[in-house]
Amino acid sequence: MRVVLAGATGTLGSVLVPRLRAAGHTVVGLTRSADRARRLQDAGVQMRVVDVMDEQRLLEALDSCRADAVIHQATAITGMPLRHRDLHATDDLREKGTANLLRAAESVGARRFVTQSFFLGYGYHDHGETALTEDHPFAPPGKGAFERHMRSMRSNERQTFAATGIEGIALRYGLFYGPEPSTRKLMAMAARRMLPMPRPSGITCPIHIADAAAATVAALERGRAGQAYNIVDDNPIPFAGFVAAVAKAANAPAPRTLPDCLLRATPYMHALMVGTRIRLSNEKAKRELGWEPEYPSCHEGLRHVHMAGK
Ligand SMILES: NC(=O)c1ccc[n+]([C@@H]2O[C@H](COP(=O)([O-])OP(=O)(O)OC[C@H]3O[C@@H](n4cnc5c(N)ncnc54)[C@H](OP(=O)(O)O)[C@@H]3O)[C@@H](O)[C@H]2O)c1
Repeated sequence: MRVVLAGATGTLGSVLVPRLRAAGHTVVGLTRSADRARRLQDAGVQMRVVDVMDEQRLLEALDSCRADAVIHQATAITGMPLRHRDLHATDDLREKGTANLLRAAESVGARRFVTQSFFLGYGYHDHGETALTEDHPFAPPGKGAFERHMRSMRSNERQTFAATGIEGIALRYGLFYGPEPSTRKLMAMAARRMLPMPRPSGITCPIHIADAAAATVAALERGRAGQAYNIVDDNPIPFAGFVAAVAKAANAPAPRTLPDCLLRATPYMHALMVGTRIRLSNEKAKRELGWEPEYPSCHEGLRHVHMAGK
């Protein structure tokens, strides 16, 4: 397939581009930066320099382009999301960004659209012991500052599933980790004993970025129209356990425990590390996409992540 990829230069995009090409797909990557475009062009990827939040410019940039599919992997979390406002740019990419990319899909004649969604769309609270499936209600109304995130995740999926003449698929990715900037930042913090171990601890669902990229190619090729898929590994883990595994991978001393009251100073990070207890089933993705995580747990996945370089 010929694929337009928004987010081609990002953490997931950088792993996804070579996998798409290895699977025989042709990639047209989008970026706002001429430098990053040049780097990918040198690697043989066609690039367009454009901001997906500017609908007119986006349609102009793709004017002469024909494609079979559009993949939306544009996010703007930039580092550690401590406060709610650190997510607002990504919220906008999940509302207006998605609308613009669906318009672009129509203009290039694409019939498939794969969008990046997020496992915490199920809600930043305690979901109990049962592993949630995709049939569980997604993006229910959120309390206070959470509603903006829920609204954007709701909108991203609804637009994707409702687009006329387009087979829309949403991938509810777990917490990314792997040989990528954020994980390395966490490892560096652990090495300086600055990575807090939450007490009490929430429960989270990690996914190695290589497995997230493999699932994305599988969804592009085999995903069913109008469907969402949980893209997480086989082992939900207490956030404290994830922190301990990151510290171990960094050969760092045991992290210091940070009492709940101190983490409350960063409300979004508190919700991520303490307030949310969630387990997800990835059976549907395995069954329908023929996908299997290479790293069933973050213990295996982190073993291969080194602080510096590859
Ligand atoms: N599920 C998860 O856990 C999850 C999800 C997302 C991110 N993260 C983490 O958060 C960290 C930072 O991520 P990030 O969100 O800043 O993503 P990132 O990995 O840096 O990638 C963001 C991508 O989106 C593109 N993009 C953003 N806004 C755009 C716009 N207006 N127009 C065109 N393209 C646009 C960027 O392109 P250009 O900058 O080249 O224009 C880039 O390719 C990552 O290391 C990652 O681990 C985690």
